[in-house]
Amino acid sequence: MHRRRSLTHSRTAASQGNWSVRCALLMALLGAGLFSATAVAAPTKEAKTARVETSQKALPGDYVGQEVCATCHEEIGKKFSSNAHAKLAEAHGKNGVTCEGCHGPGKAHVDGGGDVTKIFNPAKATAKEVDAKCLGCHQGQHANFERSGHGEANVSCVSCHSIHAGEDPEHLLKVAQPRLCFQCHTDIKPQFSMPFHHKVEEGLMQCSDCHNPHGTFGRKGLKSASQQDAICTKCHTETAGPFVYEHDVVKTEGCTSCHTPHGGPNPRLLNRANVNTLCLQCHSPSPNFTTGLPIGPAHNQNQQYQSCTICHTSIHGSNTSPIFFNSTE
Ligand code: HEC
Ligand code: HEC
Ligand code: HEC
Ligand code: HEC
Ligand code: HEC
Ligand code: HEC
Ligand code: HEC
Ligand code: HEC
Ligand code: HEC
Ligand code: HEC
Repeated sequence: MHRRRSLTHSRTAASQGNWSVRCALLMALLGAGLFSATAVAAPTKEAKTARVETSQKALPGDYVGQEVCATCHEEIGKKFSSNAHAKLAEAHGKNGVTCEGCHGPGKAHVDGGGDVTKIFNPAKATAKEVDAKCLGCHQGQHANFERSGHGEANVSCVSCHSIHAGEDPEHLLKVAQPRLCFQCHTDIKPQFSMPFHHKVEEGLMQCSDCHNPHGTFGRKGLKSASQQDAICTKCHTETAGPFVYEHDVVKTEGCTSCHTPHGGPNPRLLNRANVNTLCLQCHSPSPNFTTGLPIGPAHNQNQQYQSCTICHTSIHGSNTSPIFFNSTE
């Protein structure tokens, strides 16, 4: 969804109501104060005080423009034309700020013959400084970032994105998924090599089909399907319902009460090796009225009853059978 929205934006970059244009406009107005605030950034406490002072003195005239930057940073300047951020130039009758939108006004840096203390380099800044800089324009898209697992753990925008040297040009990622994610989530990797797994390593789907690395309103950065259901029903539509006879637990506790989402040793990604032990976790055959668990099967527990879903086939819910028997009419 996010992706589509940003593409739409890019196609309408000329329109006034456009996010990127408004964003760049805002920048030019606030630009002097905002960006010079980080123009001399060295991520130390002492430097912070210095920054506040310069931020009040800086003027829009401290911008020099991309052409000047490119005279010394030729390689970066050349590659930049294919960068999504090149669009920033289209603002203000094509006088928009590009390089300096992220690096802050560059006059002092240029006058100093490339004085590195006079330019903001995100690679040397703290996570919070980088996030604030990027979110200055991308807040609308990624409003949940700061309270996401990544935002809170100081995994900054440039832990995953590289503006100038990315391997995956589409989203300016440092390296492509899932390798990007596995660099840090080494404990998750083996789950996708289990006998039964979602085909992420095979390239059939991506981590970001289920997770938004920038955070969501859900737990674990999980995306949700259009009906606000679990993300799973976006692809597994047949399990979504609504059904006349719901298997309550699908709706209340969600798919992961029975399935493991990444991969596991059991067919159908089930949490348990045997279907009956899965069911009997909740459906105790010897009812204990104090536990509040659902009723157990009153039928006997002989061998022929062990494979519960042989009879209770429509296990995710049914429109015809209150006990989830085959619902094909
Ligand atoms: C001055 C405003 C501004 C700043 C600051 C900014 N961006 Fe952007 N960003 C944009 C615009 C405008 C686009 C193009 C959007 C479009 O194509 O619709 C863009 C595009 C992107 C894209 C590509 C989206 C895509 O899928 O094509 C990524 C990724 C991105 N920015 C990340 C960052 C990161 C990381 C930072 C901080 C280092 C950052 N941006 C700082 C304005 C900004
Ligand atoms: C007169 C030549 C010159 C111009 C013009 C120039 N730079 Fe630089 N820049 C340098 C030199 C030299 C370095 C240091 C390079 C190094 O150490 O590898 C540098 C380093 C940088 C760095 C890295 C700073 C660091 O902390 O390592 C950034 C970011 C940068 N320049 C951005 C810009 C931007 C943005 C512009 C345009 C506003 C610009 N430069 C214009 C010469 C220039
Ligand atoms: C969207 C934000 C953004 C824009 C726009 C941008 N940069 Fe950068 N720049 C970064 C980030 C982030 C880094 C840190 C290294 C990285 O992530 O690739 C960086 C690093 C640099 C460096 C240091 C390179 C190094 O290897 O350490 C230079 C020089 C530089 N940028 C110049 C430019 C020039 C010139 C332009 C315009 C043509 C520009 N940048 C536009 C975000 C930006
Ligand atoms: C943990 C890794 C990670 C971090 C941290 C991260 N991103 Fe991303 N970002 C991604 C991935 C992966 C995609 C591609 C998502 C997809 O395929 O749907 C992406 C896509 C984007 C896009 C394209 C629009 C979209 O949502 O698809 C923008 C813009 C963007 N990121 C900006 C940012 C900014 C700004 C920050 C910091 C506030 C940031 N990202 C932090 C991994 C990350
Ligand atoms: C630079 C290291 C790094 C990268 C790269 C990275 N992560 Fe993370 N991720 C973390 C850290 C640190 C945390 C927070 C601590 C934890 O939960 O392990 C985290 C947390 C998470 C969480 C739990 C979120 C929550 O709110 O509880 C998910 C899901 C996640 N990452 C998915 C991804 C995905 C998907 C990618 C690739 C697009 C990715 N990560 C890339 C470091 C990283
Ligand atoms: C089919 C959807 C799906 C895909 C694809 C997926 N995840 Fe997850 N992931 C989930 C769900 C659901 C959870 C929450 C599990 C739970 O706690 O109930 C989760 C949890 C996580 C967690 C938190 C684990 C913890 O113990 O807190 C991390 C980290 C994570 N995923 C990383 C990844 C990475 C990295 C990828 C890609 C290699 C990925 N996921 C692909 C659905 C998915
Ligand atoms: C982006 C689409 C997509 C999403 C989202 C998704 N799945 Fe899947 N799922 C698939 C595909 C495709 C397959 C079958 C191909 C394969 O073997 O990976 C599959 C296979 C399965 C299977 C095994 C089916 C079988 O016949 O063995 C189960 C169970 C499953 N998914 C549950 C889930 C759960 C639970 C979630 C949410 C955490 C989820 N899926 C999210 C696409 C998706
Ligand atoms: C009460 C436990 C339970 C819950 C909750 C549950 N499932 Fe299942 N699911 C099963 C069982 C058991 C099977 C295996 C059925 C069989 O043996 O054929 C299964 C099979 C599947 C399959 C394989 C195809 C099929 O229909 O047989 C998919 C896909 C699937 N589930 C997705 C989901 C999704 C998505 C959710 C959440 C909306 C979900 N499940 C919730 C128990 C559950
Ligand atoms: C995580 C707990 C959980 C698991 C696991 C689970 N169920 Fe249920 N099941 C429920 C709940 C809750 C109800 C609703 C009970 C109620 O309304 O009293 C229910 C209802 C039912 C009903 C309808 C009974 C009725 O009186 O409405 C049947 C049949 C059923 N489950 C079969 C199964 C089978 C077969 C399995 C294993 C594939 C299974 N369940 C796994 C929680 C679970
Ligand atoms: C041979 C077919 C068959 C198998 C296998 C089977 N059931 Fe049933 N189940 C039924 C029938 C028929 C009913 C309707 C009530 C009855 O006749 O006892 C039922 C009813 C239920 C009910 C509703 C409560 C009740 O007893 O009326 C639950 C819960 C249930 N079964 C769970 C299970 C579980 C758990 C398993 C696996 C351990 C299982 N069933 C295996 C046929 C089967």
